[in-house]
Amino acid sequence: MQSVDQDTITDAFVAYCEATTTPRLKFVLLKLAEHLHGFAKDVRLTHEEWQAAMTLLNRAGQISSPERSEFILFSDVLGLTALVDMINSGHGRTEYSNLGPFYIAGSRWLEPGGDMIGDNEGDHVAFHGRVLDAGSGKPVPGAVLDVWQTAANGLYSNQDPRQLEGNLRCRIKTDANGAYAFTTVRPAPYTVPEDGPVGDLLRATGRRPWRPAHFHFLISAEGRRALVTEIFPDDDPYIDEDPVFGVRKQLVVRLVEETDLSSLPCQLAAANRLTQPFYRIQYDFSI
Ligand code: BEZ
Ligand code: FE
Repeated sequence: MQSVDQDTITDAFVAYCEATTTPRLKFVLLKLAEHLHGFAKDVRLTHEEWQAAMTLLNRAGQISSPERSEFILFSDVLGLTALVDMINSGHGRTEYSNLGPFYIAGSRWLEPGGDMIGDNEGDHVAFHGRVLDAGSGKPVPGAVLDVWQTAANGLYSNQDPRQLEGNLRCRIKTDANGAYAFTTVRPAPYTVPEDGPVGDLLRATGRRPWRPAHFHFLISAEGRRALVTEIFPDDDPYIDEDPVFGVRKQLVVRLVEETDLSSLPCQLAAANRLTQPFYRIQYDFSI
């Protein structure tokens, strides 16, 4: 095609991609061009706006490092990460929600009913439930729950030199009944990084950077797709304005105030160290 105009440029792109050998790549690329071109035409994108967007992407590249991806953060605050999670949820499984940048593989193993409180400050929480098969509802024994969360200061262990390595992180296995239990402290809300172009975008749109407090879970079991999700206490001040759209109704839980240890379903190693009142969360995951 020697000459293209606004009406033919998308078709020209399609023609140029004719030789693409991977059908899925071809399909996704053509759709991308269709929507991207449509978007530019729809908003009548100016040179200045295009330049501003390119500068933003350049800055995202400059501020990114092996520990920080500003591109993923862009995807998060634009709702793309959450949308991909939603598209790939379903079939009776617990919904996916943001993995985030603070996961570390290989956390220490906790015995069933084990304790993550250690020397951490904050409200004590007994967290228990089961991992179930999404199709049959039957328990999944031997599933591995990889858990990570912030301390009461809103920082993960890998952001805070004052925390011990691996603090408030663990792996725990479900028992023969698919049950798990551990004690921990209440996590705290925190801000997503706002010193880069994503922060500029949030400020320009009047959005706050605070994520509501949450517990992260990565749950795996042999022969099943791993589930990455988050559990959110319902009394958090930011529960209705998560900048990365991670909150789903199904993932919001009530922290039940308890004074009676007999409310707990199983023996917890740290039960006798729980302060009164403590909080209890019961949650069943389906995978
Ligand atoms: C997190 O939940 O750890 C997280 C998710 C998105 C951006 C920043 C942090
Ligand atoms: Fe997080």
